[in-house]
Amino acid sequence: MRIDIITGLPNMLDSFLNQSIVKRAQNKGLVEIIVHDLRDYATGKARQIDDYPFGGGAGMVLMIEPIAKCIRKLQAERHYDEIIYMTPDGQTFHQRMANRLSLLENLIILCGHYKGVDHRVREHFVTLEISIGDYVISGGELAAAVVTDAIVRLVPGVLSDETSALTDSFQDNLLAPPVYTRPADFEGWKVPEILLSGHEAKIAEWRLQQSIERTRARRPDLLQED
Ligand code: ADE
Repeated sequence: MRIDIITGLPNMLDSFLNQSIVKRAQNKGLVEIIVHDLRDYATGKARQIDDYPFGGGAGMVLMIEPIAKCIRKLQAERHYDEIIYMTPDGQTFHQRMANRLSLLENLIILCGHYKGVDHRVREHFVTLEISIGDYVISGGELAAAVVTDAIVRLVPGVLSDETSALTDSFQDNLLAPPVYTRPADFEGWKVPEILLSGHEAKIAEWRLQQSIERTRARRPDLLQED
């Protein structure tokens, strides 16, 4: 899988792309993530990527020209399954969406900034608009990192124990059960006996029960979903 991230602030993604699972996925050759600096596609000395909004108002708007140039260059090289725009007025991101996107070949993720992008970008290039939740952050970079991380960890082979993504919260609409590690007794706070029993079937049954109970208590809405 290949993910091209287009941003006016490429440095914001540096540390995220060079750590942990996302880094490992790239090193294993399972995922290729390329960050494109919008300024490389800007014209003029100032390499301007944003401008004042027509009609007035506060904030700057990302211009269509550098974005169009970057997207068209990428599209000339390969087909993209989705061109995603990160925006608080997009569809709320969800594990189901992550599952679907993880099966695709090539994605572009466009990060908005300031007051957003010229609306013609959304009308003519973007195929999917994603919000990471009902709050506004300063730009799309952190949102793009959230979405990229959620997708990458689902790509087969990325996690060393492939089943571990399947037991994440939200897969099967259930929250994950509690987990424990050594010591089995910390100042009298004991790990549930069943987990020390070595009885795999009973442990699986206990975990499922815990998942159902926690989902009912914390997120009953998930149990209503199909
Ligand atoms: N950009 C700013 N806020 C955002 C959000 N909640 N989701 C996606 N992109 C954003």
